[in-house]
Amino acid sequence: MKDELDKIKKEFLQEIEKVKNSKELENIKVAYLGRKGFIAEVFKNLKSLSGEVKKDVGRDANILKNEIEQRINEKVAEVAKDINEFAEKKLGIGHILDVSAPSKRISLGSRHPITLVKEEAERIFSSMGFEVAEGPEAETEYNNFDALNIPKNHPARDMWDTFWLDNKKGEKLLLRTHTSPVQIRYMKTHKPPFRIIAPGRTFRYEATDARHDIQFYQLEGLMIGKDISLANLKGVIEVFLSRFFHTKTEVRFLPSYFPFVEPGVEVEAACFLCAKEKTEKRCPVCGGSGWFEIMGAGMVHRAVLEEVGISPAKWQGFAFGVGLDRLALLKYKIDDIRLLYGTDVRFLKQFK
Ligand code: FA5
Repeated sequence: MKDELDKIKKEFLQEIEKVKNSKELENIKVAYLGRKGFIAEVFKNLKSLSGEVKKDVGRDANILKNEIEQRINEKVAEVAKDINEFAEKKLGIGHILDVSAPSKRISLGSRHPITLVKEEAERIFSSMGFEVAEGPEAETEYNNFDALNIPKNHPARDMWDTFWLDNKKGEKLLLRTHTSPVQIRYMKTHKPPFRIIAPGRTFRYEATDARHDIQFYQLEGLMIGKDISLANLKGVIEVFLSRFFHTKTEVRFLPSYFPFVEPGVEVEAACFLCAKEKTEKRCPVCGGSGWFEIMGAGMVHRAVLEEVGISPAKWQGFAFGVGLDRLALLKYKIDDIRLLYGTDVRFLKQFK
């Protein structure tokens, strides 16, 4: 029996030297330490022995088992080291296997703040009878500009710095600069009355700061019916904002200009950071004015209604375009829009 153990040990030591990868290592482990392996065989045969001999062989078998285990563990580390050296030298990447590293904790993901804001806005507008509509991010020049009463050489085109797409065939395309083209698409294919919202990604070729990014989300609103007035617009927006922020958030309506509405307004919320205090120092969130622009809106221009084949004599309506990123900044008191498009998990996982 003792010879048998010596033979197993000798063979094991020869074989383990030849091991080059984890597959071979696993095979050896099974052959020697597995349920039907050499060591298990020795323990099985112990039954046929008796007295001192049984005790001696049992002890020696245990010692050998431990030695084999230890050598296998050392070999695991050697194989890992080889793999890592290979990864570093040949592939130029860092460690790909560290057997001593603690196992990874699997953590649950969280939803992005813009997703949360978008879903909340959809819930509130749905409860007011608005349906959700969609349009493409790559838009035609016609839908994004011309049909919205912004013809080619109109100076208002400068309001939207545009990423033009280099498409060779067909109509000129661009990355939509706002969600307003969804108004055109919807009105051309539906008969009034209707009320819709259209959330989606928009793009502008402009410098970034705490309130501006080159990509952001807007939510367009459009309501066409009979006898719709500016008072309806103000009412819908006030209900939306008070439900959205839960607490009372001060907002104000200012006259503004957009070629596709008449009259046009701009809606501003009180800045959460400097709380409307006009300060000498420029507030990074509102730029120092104490107010924070969140949307443009107005009564749909008759030229737009005519363009889509809706009679302005019969139908009127309002439209608005709210910045979902700006709503997220206000709701979660985030002081820089660019955090929303970063990949810092410490920031993103705060939102549920
Ligand atoms: C428009 O885009 C109009 N289409 C809105 C509109 C719709 C007016 C319907 C009338 C009727 P404006 O460029 O102001 O307007 O953008 C609307 C909102 O989008 C802004 O109030 C702001 O909340 C957000 N926004 C605009 N530019 C950026 C940007 N670079 N980064 C983040 N948010 C932005």
